[in-house]
Amino acid sequence: MAMGPIRPPDRGPLGCLLGGGWGFDERMPRFWTLCAFFLSVALGSAQTLRQASPWASGVGLSDRIPERPEDWPLLMAQFGHVTPENCMKPAAIRPTEARWNFDLPDKFVAFANGKDLKVVGHCLVWAKDDRTPPWFYLDGAAPASKEILLARMEAYIAKVVGRYQGRIHAWDVVNEALDDGKGELRESGWTRAAGDAFIARAFAAAHAADPAALLIYNDYNNELDGKREKMLRLLAKLKAGGAPVHAIGLQGHYEIDRVPYEALEKTLVALRALGLKAVVSELDIDVIPRGRWWADGNKHRAEMAKVNPYVDGCPPEVLARQAEQYGRLFRLFRRYDDVILRVSFWNLHDGQSWLNKFPWARVNHPLLFDRQGQPKPAFTAVLKELAVPRPPGPAK
Ligand code: GLA
Repeated sequence: MAMGPIRPPDRGPLGCLLGGGWGFDERMPRFWTLCAFFLSVALGSAQTLRQASPWASGVGLSDRIPERPEDWPLLMAQFGHVTPENCMKPAAIRPTEARWNFDLPDKFVAFANGKDLKVVGHCLVWAKDDRTPPWFYLDGAAPASKEILLARMEAYIAKVVGRYQGRIHAWDVVNEALDDGKGELRESGWTRAAGDAFIARAFAAAHAADPAALLIYNDYNNELDGKREKMLRLLAKLKAGGAPVHAIGLQGHYEIDRVPYEALEKTLVALRALGLKAVVSELDIDVIPRGRWWADGNKHRAEMAKVNPYVDGCPPEVLARQAEQYGRLFRLFRRYDDVILRVSFWNLHDGQSWLNKFPWARVNHPLLFDRQGQPKPAFTAVLKELAVPRPPGPAK
């Protein structure tokens, strides 16, 4: 009688894999089949942004995330770094000199720390008048002097950064200080009182309060020609003065068909040459372009406020275009994975995007996950780029 292995009756796929007898002849092949099985499970579960990204995978979140358990599975599977959308902004934490609001930030940080998510604090100084609580600027009814303004800023930073020392991984120290027009810095109560000195002082104060935190200068359109050069000049000056600026935040609020690939690449090349790191801090690709809202002296606003083409869902053709553009963007990012420390999306899924409200109300679809938290074609396109092995040797 032949002594070959005896196949057990059909046990379904897992039964076949695990096999019946453990005679010598069949043990080795079955062992490797078992390894292959567990490897494929491991690789299958690696198909998330969090596991497939060569940088930290992040997301901007509603301040209410601790009360939204329905969002946690998507969050935990895809992202490892979280930025609170609003509750850590100066206007939220200290709207008046007398009032400190730490309730939401405390809950946000405790939630993230408890779930092994790293927190990006956002932001310590938002260098715009409409985003700075007015009391910062005033001394009675008169404008505060440079000394008063900077002392207030330093006390604010020491208290906020100190409170979360060791529990917040990175801070957007200064947000949106660069001018969109002809000037170097945006004119504001900050520049009127203190010129550009507030920027270096803000970084120094943050570093003193938490020497281990990664400190970021964050802005929008700072990859574009013109604004990029302003940013590089600012960085050169900050670096020459010894300011602890560790990375540049490129917000990345893009619009479909207008993603600035070339400008972005020039910026990443320049940051690499300076030995500076980049974070893509607030990424989305709007499918209902908004640029005209601000064009031609705002004269298109009434007309644009009626534009709401995708109320019943985003057409497959638009989703495919968005996917192609996200894919190209991540293909570019991959070439700079020695420069990029983190890519954070701005909001968890389409239903939570700020672009459903800003600058006018519309049903928008700018992210990788739809309103049910399901992956869109853009997610597949991004994962495909992340799966391409990087050629050996330094990134070029
Ligand atoms: C800017 C800010 C963010 C957020 C977005 C819109 O990019 O940095 O905090 O307010 O606008 O949601």
